[in-house]
Formats: sequence, structure tokens, C-alpha cells
Amino acid sequence: MAVEKKLSPLAISLLQPSDKNVNVLKKIHSQIFSSSYQEKFFTDSLECLPFTSMALYSDFAVAAICCRLEKLPSGKSTLYISTLGVLSPYRGRGIGKKLLANVMKLAKEDQKIDEVYFHVPVNNAEATGFLKSCGFAVEGHRETIQGYTDNCDPVDCHVYVQSVSDWVAPEGVEIEEI
Ligand SMILES: CC(C)(COP(=O)(O)OP(=O)(O)OC[C@H]1O[C@@H](n2cnc3c(N)ncnc32)[C@H](O)[C@@H]1OP(=O)(O)O)[C@@H](O)C(=O)NCCC(=O)NCCS
Repeated sequence: MAVEKKLSPLAISLLQPSDKNVNVLKKIHSQIFSSSYQEKFFTDSLECLPFTSMALYSDFAVAAICCRLEKLPSGKSTLYISTLGVLSPYRGRGIGKKLLANVMKLAKEDQKIDEVYFHVPVNNAEATGFLKSCGFAVEGHRETIQGYTDNCDPVDCHVYVQSVSDWVAPEGVEIEEI
């Protein structure tokens, strides 16, 4: 039986999105996700810096993570990851894990953030495998979300949660400078 060779991790650097390069963020989304994202999605994501970021490989934007900070009545906050995507030729090279680890590290440095969570459609096996290997666990309930990522039909989603205080960065996820 042929054994699939694991590809070596790629060195990435981070780029903060701004009004000047938001078109790059939009292009990454249009290349990865089938849904179209409204202007408000990008405006909200740009308000959540430095959590929202793009990954550059050889000066080329190959991935992005978009976040939203949700303030709780207690004064604490929850960080919602609205999208995480890596262009398909660059998948399986550790980029998604590095972007997620960077967000968790920033969340840990922010005394107000307790939890980080995702909504993942139940049929997204790729994201499920990825999140499990990154230590995220399914919360005990699933939600049916109307208009998830702009789809017209409601979508069944699992809620993946990671407590910030319990997060231990996996080895080898430092983001190298290029
Ligand atoms: C999900 C996604 C972000 C993963 O990014 P990636 O850069 O390919 O993932 P990585 O190379 O960093 O992989 C990290 C870990 O997840 C695992 N993983 C990645 N893709 C996987 C898959 N399809 N099935 C099972 N496990 C997977 C890897 O084996 C690796 O595990 P390891 O650290 O134990 O070796 C990427 O596949 C993607 O953009 N998918 C389309 C968009 C999407 O579904 N986004 C939702 C994200 S929650």
C-alpha cells in the first residue's frame, strides 16, 4: 500500500489587512469559499485586528483568518473565528495551524478573552479533521444557522470551542519571518 508523504511546513509571515489591501482579503475569500461575503463582513473583520490576518508565502497572500470580538455582559469577551481558509495548493503545509495558533496566542495575551469558537457545517469533514488535530472540541450542542456564510438555506453547524486558559501551543507553529 502506498504511504502518502507528509509535505514539509511552509514558512509564512503575517500581513495585517487594512483599507488599502482589503481587496486581497476579498480575493482569498472568493477563491476559497463558495459563498459571497458582503462588505459588512470585511468591515467587521478589519475592526478585529490584530486577530484578523493574512498569511504571506514568498510575498504572496495564501491564507486568511477573519475574527470578530463578542463582548459579554460580564465584561469578558469571546473571540469568534468567522473564516479560516488556505488556498488549496498550500494546504497540508501547516499554514492553517499556524494562523489558528497565532490567534490563540494573541487571545491568551488579552486578559479579557476566555474562549475562542467556530461554527463548522456538520458536513465539512476537512475542517472537522483540522480542528480536532488543533485541539478544538465540539461543544455539547449543534446549531442550525440561518444565512451561515450568506447561504440562503439554514445550515446545521457544530460549535467548536477552545478555552484560552487551557490552550497549549503545539510545537513548530512559530511564524517565521521572511
Ligand atoms: C481546514 C483548512 C483551513 C486547514 O488548513 P491547512 O493549512 O491545510 O492545515 P494544516 O496543514 O495546518 O494542518 C493542521 C493539522 O490539521 C490536519 N488536517 C488538515 N486538513 C485535514 C483534513 N482534510 N482532514 C483531516 N485532518 C486534516 C493536518 O493533518 C494537521 O494535523 P497534524 O498537525 O497533526 O499533522 C484548509 O483545509 C482550508 O482552507 N479548507 C477550506 C476552508 C474551510 O473549510 N475552512 C474552515 C476551517 S475550520
